[in-house]
Amino acid sequence: MKVLFTGIQPTGLLHIGNYFGAVRNWVSLQHQYRTYISVVDLHAITIQYEPREMPGAVQEMVLQLAACGIDPEKTLLFVQSEVPGHADLTWTFNTITPLGELERMTQFKDKSAQHRKNVNVGLLDYPVLQAADILIYKGEVVPVGEDQVQHVEFTREVARRFNARYGDTFPECEALLTASPRIMGLDGQAKMSKSKDNTIGLLETREEVWAKLSVAPTDPARVRRSDPGTPEKCNIYSYHKLVTPEPQLSQTVAQGCRTAGIGCIDCKKLFLDNLMKELDPIRERYGQLAARPEKVREALDANAATCRADAGRTILEVKEKMGLARTWKI
Ligand code: TRP
Repeated sequence: MKVLFTGIQPTGLLHIGNYFGAVRNWVSLQHQYRTYISVVDLHAITIQYEPREMPGAVQEMVLQLAACGIDPEKTLLFVQSEVPGHADLTWTFNTITPLGELERMTQFKDKSAQHRKNVNVGLLDYPVLQAADILIYKGEVVPVGEDQVQHVEFTREVARRFNARYGDTFPECEALLTASPRIMGLDGQAKMSKSKDNTIGLLETREEVWAKLSVAPTDPARVRRSDPGTPEKCNIYSYHKLVTPEPQLSQTVAQGCRTAGIGCIDCKKLFLDNLMKELDPIRERYGQLAARPEKVREALDANAATCRADAGRTILEVKEKMGLARTWKI
């Protein structure tokens, strides 16, 4: 089985952009690969954070992923800092990484502009830690959003450089982009994101979702109920595509919009119904898992142990190749 690795930061509550853009995809991929999914707390500390809030944020992320269907008994869902090999391999990779390459990374430039008072070495080194995450398990497939493609390219470069310098060790991984990598916010103006306050939360109830959805903009050409619209110009239609099955999607929704057969409110209600069919079971499952978190915690412990063993083998191989193994002639 090929190895899949991906990581997610413990950023609090997931929204449907995270779910349809990434997590739902991971849920089906976990059956096709040996899958590692890491909650990357070591990446999260490269920006200002509150230490007291970190354990809760990590737990919440793990429970949400499990609620979405990432099965911690089957998939190696684990917490990055519980596997020390990641930081160990990062140091090794640091010594073969040109400084200029890190300074040129788009995310580093963006984040150092955003956090001017805290441009720490960890922020610069972020892509090297990410490369270590993937390569320590000899990951081959890396499902990520478009914004992470540069980091995956960088990881390939690290693997090539290491292999050229110390001998063939690491595979060259590939990014796997989702079919719907860019989900717009409710405002229709920008990508859905917590900082823009334009999200539908994964754990929101029907009433909470409707309060936001009912006032969200649609195709601006549909001023009156009787005005025909263009589904392709409507943000809500792009949401329908995520959850509405055929023939309802093209007949009721698209055709209904074009002919003014249905109004925007009817259309939104249909979307709400289809969305909640997907979100209700996730929210219920989250409630069950959160009531007994020790079950998931046990699976995380077992997974961290497996990851430490897998990582340990790669570290040993790397040390041998680099002349760092315990091989004195005595
Ligand atoms: N940098 C990724 C993000 O912010 C998270 C991440 C860390 C990751 N390590 C990874 C993703 C390894 C894929 C593979 O989304």
